[in-house]
Amino acid sequence: MTTELAPRPASASRTLMTFLLFPEHANALGKAFGGQVMAWADMCGGICSMRHSTGATVTVGVDDLQFEQPLLIGDVVSVEARVNATFRSSMEIEVVVHGENPATGKRWRCVEARLTVVAIDGDGKGRLVPELLPESDDDRRRMTEAAARREERLAKRKPR
Ligand SMILES: CC(C)(COP(=O)(O)OP(=O)(O)OC[C@H]1O[C@@H](n2cnc3c(N)ncnc32)[C@H](O)[C@@H]1OP(=O)(O)O)[C@@H](O)C(=O)NCCC(=O)NCCS
Repeated sequence: MTTELAPRPASASRTLMTFLLFPEHANALGKAFGGQVMAWADMCGGICSMRHSTGATVTVGVDDLQFEQPLLIGDVVSVEARVNATFRSSMEIEVVVHGENPATGKRWRCVEARLTVVAIDGDGKGRLVPELLPESDDDRRRMTEAAARREERLAKRKPR
């Protein structure tokens, strides 16, 4: 096994991005534009997957993304991504977005989503990713649950 494929823990690729919600990130109601939040989630998940797999990746799917609570202009937005599980060339990445009112310190969850991301080589073909090294019971639970979700996703995959 090459060094690049040595198993590594989720803690090594955990990614946190923090933004201040400006008017250009909002819709006409002064709330975050959903597409902007999805772009931040995809960016954060993408960086996390690149850190784990040490190379280029592409997003192939997003599960069950819902906007639970709004974000308003002036809120601080935290986007956090971690690897839940790895397979052959694909990874399940969990992204959680929180809002925070900087004046009151109040913090709330806005979005939780799971991305399926594939590591690709220079020809755009899938390449092997390092296995995940569990460090806790929570890590092991995430791996088991992600494996079940993968089966559901593949069953729903559209034929090409
Ligand atoms: C990702 C991509 C390279 C896969 O190519 P492919 O020839 O279909 O390759 P495979 O069928 O071998 O799939 C590769 C992996 O992706 C997984 N996968 C592919 N489509 C999937 C889907 N819709 N949902 C979940 N997993 C999927 C496969 O299970 C496989 O995982 P594994 O290697 O861990 O077992 C190709 O689908 C692609 O380029 N898609 C466009 C990605 C893109 O442009 N994203 C937006 C910009 S980031």
